[in-house]
Amino acid sequence: MTSETQFHALVLDQDGEGKVSGSFQTLGNDRLPDADTTVKVLYSALNYKDGMIMNGLGKLVNEYPHIPGVDLVGEVEECTSGAFQPGDMVICTGWRVGEIWWGGFATRARLKSEWLVRAPESMSPQQIMAIGTAGVTAMMSLMALEAHGLTPETEGEVLVTGAAGGVGSLCVMLLAGNGYRVAAGTGRDSTRDYLTDLGAASLVSREELEEAPRGPLTKARWAGAIDNVGGKILGNLLSALRPNTSCAAVGNVAGFSFEASVLPFLLRGVNLLGIDSVNCPIEQRRIIWERLAKELPLDKIDPMMEIHPMSDVLKLGGEILKGQVRGRAVIDVNA
Ligand SMILES: NC(=O)c1ccc[n+]([C@@H]2O[C@H](COP(=O)([O-])OP(=O)(O)OC[C@H]3O[C@@H](n4cnc5c(N)ncnc54)[C@H](OP(=O)(O)O)[C@@H]3O)[C@@H](O)[C@H]2O)c1
Repeated sequence: MTSETQFHALVLDQDGEGKVSGSFQTLGNDRLPDADTTVKVLYSALNYKDGMIMNGLGKLVNEYPHIPGVDLVGEVEECTSGAFQPGDMVICTGWRVGEIWWGGFATRARLKSEWLVRAPESMSPQQIMAIGTAGVTAMMSLMALEAHGLTPETEGEVLVTGAAGGVGSLCVMLLAGNGYRVAAGTGRDSTRDYLTDLGAASLVSREELEEAPRGPLTKARWAGAIDNVGGKILGNLLSALRPNTSCAAVGNVAGFSFEASVLPFLLRGVNLLGIDSVNCPIEQRRIIWERLAKELPLDKIDPMMEIHPMSDVLKLGGEILKGQVRGRAVIDVNA
């Protein structure tokens, strides 16, 4: 049990040889960073980036000791800027919170009010964290594709790679809910029923997506794509996009670099669109959460999330790096 002047958190430390390890600790509130808003955290969630940070990968953290947790939802305890009142339910995703700022794997966080979005009333805090960064990223990707002409009437299926992961699941659900025909690219055949229930019209195996195309332009197949994996799969899928369509580049779990021909850009007018959810402006975040609240089929969120106590996060951090987490792992920081 922690008192009102203390909080409980996963604290990461680094030894002299650079090895990162984590332990659960009770800290005084005076250890929180300096900012205008104190939040009693209710839930966090696990993102691929949290897995990297807990395992000391990617040089994402500047200073130790560090509290990870990219996403959080909670109740405002105090806000000296006046932007929020005590008791307001707020969401924080991105802004490098959990990387260079203490994050959501804690029962209390101190944050800048300009980072916070008011939580939609139609969703529970657990559902909000099932969405979290993954949902914001999925909606940013859809909005980018729409801005470049994608509509449900566009011929062909929209390909989502890494479909059974966090961002992938939200993409499948969001696209299908908006009337798009979705092809779910996955390396786990065991997720067939899961992805079909989320709304996927067809499944494409990872092997098929990894197979080198016969030339720089293959059969024009996809109405658009959201790529969560990068590497060879991203390079390959560009050659199978239909004319004047786009791919939103989101993730890098299969590699940071890719090889591709310029011909899809020159001869089919395809677009490659970068997605950066971390620095998404606050005005756009408000629109994104409004759209998420309206457009995500709420009945599909519960089967897509699993709620874990905070004591599970270190183990889950290893599992997400191996592609073993399905959908979204929501973290009950008070359990
Ligand atoms: N751009 C942004 O703003 C932004 C925001 C959030 C996340 N991201 C990035 O998006 C990616 C996905 O994040 P996430 O939190 O959804 O992670 P996740 O839950 O682990 O999902 C990644 C999925 O990719 C597939 N996968 C794993 N290893 C693979 C490999 N070697 N080759 C091909 N596919 C592989 C798996 O799906 P299947 O089992 O279905 O194959 C896995 O579930 C990460 O790279 C993350 O850093 C970017």
